[in-house]
Amino acid sequence: MTMNPDVQLADALPEVAFDVDVVRQDFPALHQRVNDRPLVYLDNAATTHKPQQVIDALVRFYSQDNSNVHRGAHTLSDRATVQFEAARVALADFIHARASEEIVWTSGTTEGINLVAQCYGGSRLKAGDRILVSEMAHHSNIVPWQMVAERTGAEVVPIPVTALGEIDQAQYQALLDERVKIVAIGHVSNALGTINPVASMVEHAHAVGAVVLVDGAQAVGHWAVDMQALDCDFYVFSGHKMFGPTGIGVLYGRQDLLEAMPPYMGGGEMIESVSFSETVYNTLPYKFEAGTPNIADAIGLHAAVDYLGALDRVGAQRHEEQLLARADSMAADCEGLEMVGGAPNRTGVLSFNLQGAHPSDIGMLLDQQGVAVRTGHHCAQPIMDQLTRSGTVRASFSFYNTQEDVELLFAALAKATLFLQ
Ligand code: ALA
Repeated sequence: MTMNPDVQLADALPEVAFDVDVVRQDFPALHQRVNDRPLVYLDNAATTHKPQQVIDALVRFYSQDNSNVHRGAHTLSDRATVQFEAARVALADFIHARASEEIVWTSGTTEGINLVAQCYGGSRLKAGDRILVSEMAHHSNIVPWQMVAERTGAEVVPIPVTALGEIDQAQYQALLDERVKIVAIGHVSNALGTINPVASMVEHAHAVGAVVLVDGAQAVGHWAVDMQALDCDFYVFSGHKMFGPTGIGVLYGRQDLLEAMPPYMGGGEMIESVSFSETVYNTLPYKFEAGTPNIADAIGLHAAVDYLGALDRVGAQRHEEQLLARADSMAADCEGLEMVGGAPNRTGVLSFNLQGAHPSDIGMLLDQQGVAVRTGHHCAQPIMDQLTRSGTVRASFSFYNTQEDVELLFAALAKATLFLQ
């Protein structure tokens, strides 16, 4: 099983082979006891832990370089500005954007989607237009579209998802016509882990003249995404799900679309000049960055990108695939366990229920044994309501998890089952 069909695993042989025991040393939070047990952290789809390199970058910035950017006439401000803009360039490289002007800092995926919905959707949509949204989207990729639809008279139309948790491609293509102006899809489902065939979905959307926004929050921490290969119009993600700080994210947008969009918020930074007779907006990307930006966390995210750049990512991806394969096989042998979704092409997510048990009870019993998972509807209520009664237990893996973590999850589940009988 290959997580990402775009990556040729055999071609990219790294110099330093992936070694999970070595990698784990970089993540201090993994080495603690929780409820008197060694922590087994399987909530990586909610947020990932941070390597020491990211923590050090934040401490270095605040203890040596802290200053505002683009404003000061002094050395510290210069240092902060250089690092802040270097982070933007690094992020553009990281996702293979064409230019750093296409990288807008946001507070995270949610803000990126709201920005596109309000600025692109709000200025272009009209009554009768359609926005196609995947039925398994995260709330953050549903609600902003409902809000702009309400304002403009456009209609949000769900793209159906199969019982296996995959977007029904035939139904998707049948929905595409000249009324569709925007398609909003997740690269990877946060609730089920399904990897969607984004490149081909973009091609079909473009054929009817629609633009595509991809929520990449659950993809960027797992493999190297490529804006030019995907050819999407907007791609949004959060730093904290790719080993960086919380409160920082990226909106990638095609330059011509960003140029044509009105600004998001008004304030300092986003202007070229202000007077009461005329205000001229700044150039890209600053037009969308009103106010003092999140300087420290952009620099911290740069450290995360550098960390990933130095990592054998192909080896890491293989390792994650092995974890998922083991989890799938143990799940198949686990009495009473019902998988939810379970598409063959997915990231390290195991979404499941235990017969007769409420997901939140399982979550609590796992936590008592040091195992951290998420339970409930995972901010994806439409798909959870369709496939389950009260959501799921979700174990989500990252490259720093081990085969032992998988075994400890199932041992803890066995104990939880005994307790609930
Ligand atoms: N979207 C995050 C999750 O899936 C918070 O848990």
